[in-house]
Amino acid sequence: MANVRWDEHDTPVSEHFDDPYYSRGDGQAESRYVFLGGNDLPQKWQGRPNFTIAELGFGTGLNFLETVAAWQATPEDLRPKLRYVSFELYPLERAELERALRPWDDLKHLASELCVLWPPRPGWSTHHVLGVQLDIGVGDAASILPTWTGSADAWYLDGFSPAKNPELWQAELMRDVFQRTVAGGTFATFTAAGWVRRNLEAAGFDVGKMPGFGRKRECLRGVRSVASESN
Ligand SMILES: C[S@@+](CC[C@H](N)C(=O)[O-])C[C@H]1O[C@@H](n2cnc3c(N)ncnc32)[C@H](O)[C@@H]1O
Repeated sequence: MANVRWDEHDTPVSEHFDDPYYSRGDGQAESRYVFLGGNDLPQKWQGRPNFTIAELGFGTGLNFLETVAAWQATPEDLRPKLRYVSFELYPLERAELERALRPWDDLKHLASELCVLWPPRPGWSTHHVLGVQLDIGVGDAASILPTWTGSADAWYLDGFSPAKNPELWQAELMRDVFQRTVAGGTFATFTAAGWVRRNLEAAGFDVGKMPGFGRKRECLRGVRSVASESN
């Protein structure tokens, strides 16, 4: 169970991790800037036949819906077949998902379709929703990610803050992420914590920084370089 409380701005906060699900400032703008922007989306998927995004921490589905909105806004002849794979330990209840997504009028129609299929069952489930394939692995990412046989073109690393949710940023998990990234594939995350950066580098990513969102000074993005594949 997710165990959510709602703060004075009606932002969902996890009781397990004592951390908000999205930025209290502007979750939607953060999602666009950090996760889509950090992976050069939507530009990177344009003209590709297929594109896979994977995410650690489905949470409220805000990143998913922002991604779908950007994908739907991509001209049809440039739009890939999109697969979105997300890992979630504690799915929200449907009513919680609805409430968490309520602030964004422009996502209302998308949110209502997501809510219909929510919550997913434990283990793997596949949903065809809003024109994309959504695969959800419900369980601890450390045990369910190794059962995923696919590879991502882009990763959204969106656990709670590393200080409060260290399990989702461990070296072994970052290795599992790297191994499931195509050559030239990328990741983006809101954090710039030094030990997370080192885990991502040790896993094999070329890691860089970009200015952080809102009050955050910096955040990380990275690539599985094509060059390293031939070494
Ligand atoms: C910051 S929230 C994700 C926000 C989300 N991406 C969104 O768009 O709303 C972090 C999520 O990671 C999940 N989580 C924490 N530990 C996890 C674990 N070990 N395995 C899988 N999911 C985990 C939490 O339950 C929470 O939903």
